[in-house]
Amino acid sequence: MSANSNSNSNIHVNTNMAEYYAKRADQYDNVYARPERQADLPVVRDWLRNAVAGQRVLEIACGTGYWTAEVVQTAEHVLATDINAEVIALARARNLPADKVDFALADAFAIETAQPFTACFAGFWWSHVLREQQDSFMERLREQLGKDTLVVMMDNVYVEGISTSIARTDLLGNTFQIRRLGSGERYEVVKNFPSDSGLRKRLSPHLKDIRIQRIEHYWMLTGRLK
Ligand SMILES: C[S@@+](CC[C@H](N)C(=O)[O-])C[C@H]1O[C@@H](n2cnc3c(N)ncnc32)[C@H](O)[C@@H]1O
Repeated sequence: MSANSNSNSNIHVNTNMAEYYAKRADQYDNVYARPERQADLPVVRDWLRNAVAGQRVLEIACGTGYWTAEVVQTAEHVLATDINAEVIALARARNLPADKVDFALADAFAIETAQPFTACFAGFWWSHVLREQQDSFMERLREQLGKDTLVVMMDNVYVEGISTSIARTDLLGNTFQIRRLGSGERYEVVKNFPSDSGLRKRLSPHLKDIRIQRIEHYWMLTGRLK
């Protein structure tokens, strides 16, 4: 997630993940139209609605609000945040019930809030958190949201032949994909695909009551901040 660019004689690959999503905002939802995911998506939807039922939710990295639209179905309230104004504008355009949802720009690594949230939801975010940033991300959540707050996450499973291939693995075990925009620009984006035991190992210092469900294309996790 650094703002650096890597270049050599004839390739230029940008590594700014937030910028990549800003530029891709208007195409982002295509990812949910892929035919091979259609059977899984209703399962994820039901799981999410159930997980956040009755909660006051802080949503991190909400993107275009695709999942915010599900959260509002059962949550008491959601504050949906993202670092990019471009995606927040698309999320607002969904015209979700004004009494149940607010939007705000926020950096996930610098969350600052005095509001009494009972839950935090981050969809397709954990895969983009570098391993060396994971502890500080979770510590900040604990500091800002408090002990026992429900944490709800979901993300992609790597599926051979379907997922974008891994271009590089670094020394810490982070995996990276090369993503190409319509403009031809290329971005190297961190995209980690943890196993259930990997998730437990990383998150058990921060979360108790960890529950994980894994289907073909997605994993879903709940826990409570320690
Ligand atoms: C894979 S998308 C997920 C969007 C949405 N949660 C979903 O599942 O459809 C990742 C999102 O992270 C946002 N993002 C990138 N860096 C961020 C940061 N430092 N803080 C908050 N959001 C960030 C991007 O703008 C993008 O909307």
